[in-house]
Amino acid sequence: MATVDEVRTAQELAPDRRLLDVVDLKTHFRTPRGLVKAVDGVSLRLDRGRTLGLVGESGSGKSVLSRSIMQLFPKRNVYTSGKVIFQGQDITDMSDKDLREFWGTQMSMVFQDPMTSLNPVMTIGKQLTEGLRKHLNFTRDEAEATALELMRSVHIPEPQQRLEEYRHQLSGGMRQRVTIAMALACGPKLLFADEATTALDVTVQAQILNLLQDLQQERDMGMILVTHDLGVVAGRSHEIAVMYAGKIVEKAPTSVLFSNMKMPYTEALLRSIPKLENPSHTTLRAIGGRPPDLIAPPNGCNFSPRCPYAQDRCHEEEPPLVSADEPGHNYACWYPVGTKANQEALELNLSKGLPQARVVVESGPVDV
Ligand SMILES: Nc1ncnc2c1ncn2[C@@H]1O[C@H](COP(=O)(O)OP(=O)(O)OP(=O)(O)O)[C@@H](O)[C@H]1O
Ligand SMILES: [Mg+2]
Repeated sequence: MATVDEVRTAQELAPDRRLLDVVDLKTHFRTPRGLVKAVDGVSLRLDRGRTLGLVGESGSGKSVLSRSIMQLFPKRNVYTSGKVIFQGQDITDMSDKDLREFWGTQMSMVFQDPMTSLNPVMTIGKQLTEGLRKHLNFTRDEAEATALELMRSVHIPEPQQRLEEYRHQLSGGMRQRVTIAMALACGPKLLFADEATTALDVTVQAQILNLLQDLQQERDMGMILVTHDLGVVAGRSHEIAVMYAGKIVEKAPTSVLFSNMKMPYTEALLRSIPKLENPSHTTLRAIGGRPPDLIAPPNGCNFSPRCPYAQDRCHEEEPPLVSADEPGHNYACWYPVGTKANQEALELNLSKGLPQARVVVESGPVDV
């Protein structure tokens, strides 16, 4: 008899598991200063039942990418190109009317701040039932029963009573549970969680992340977990994509990324996670230097001005995203971490007294 793992693997490999294919997606904003290339040629895919962790520093384009996949940007003042294929259909040319239906029932997002997604003057119950009645044509009774069920599924105590309450009567954690219930109401197949727990304290954060993970498994959804913190996605994603300046610079199955990262930027991100001996809520150590100006990015590799290993080539020629040895592992670097060339580049930069090269030596190997 097949083991659970074998069944699972077969399921995951089935062609109809394919949920999302993003192909060379670009989102550029026209601004008075110039064109902001917030998302600049991103490709990725996601199957049902899988979680993709999308990580990168503030401003790297994670939220713009998530919103672009959802088609949330009005086309005015925004230049977009590329394809977003959701269950075989390219949704980039969908009409606004179809998109509104689509957001309710196919793709949904849990935002960082529940205060912005919950209406202050409407009861929680009303907000939950509204979507169900509109998108799924439920009767009042059906919608109310489903709302109660949803409140239970996100583990809200005394759910019946909570349905009659307003936003301000709930704690931060409860509010975020309600927004998750709202996002799940019409049974989306893909859920984005964009820094959904950043505003919460550490214990509640873990509870909400566990809840999201359980719901994702139960409902066989695809999930894109957006965060600046590699630690958050470490045990919760099947795959991780690292973003820098609007591009994916490394992508790999989670265990491969942690054991065999190739991008110096990924290494720097990992270095910025507080060590075990520090409490996890201490501020992340910032990566030296500043993220690039997206209107006038540096020549060559976008990370080169901050990179401990950068050589002349890095400042001149942009490295393409190439395949590493393990399947599903891609990176964009001329001097990938763990290679002899990388070590020699570091030594050369140390001999020149490059400060970011010294950081690598002083902080020692990264903890995995
Ligand atoms: N409407 C807009 N017009 C112009 N520039 C924008 C617009 N929206 C976002 N940007 C720019 O696009 C870049 C990417 O922003 P984005 O919000 O996606 O970053 P992020 O990775 O989600 O950061 P954070 O971790 O802080 O949420 C930033 O430089 C931002 O200033
Ligand atoms: Mg963001």
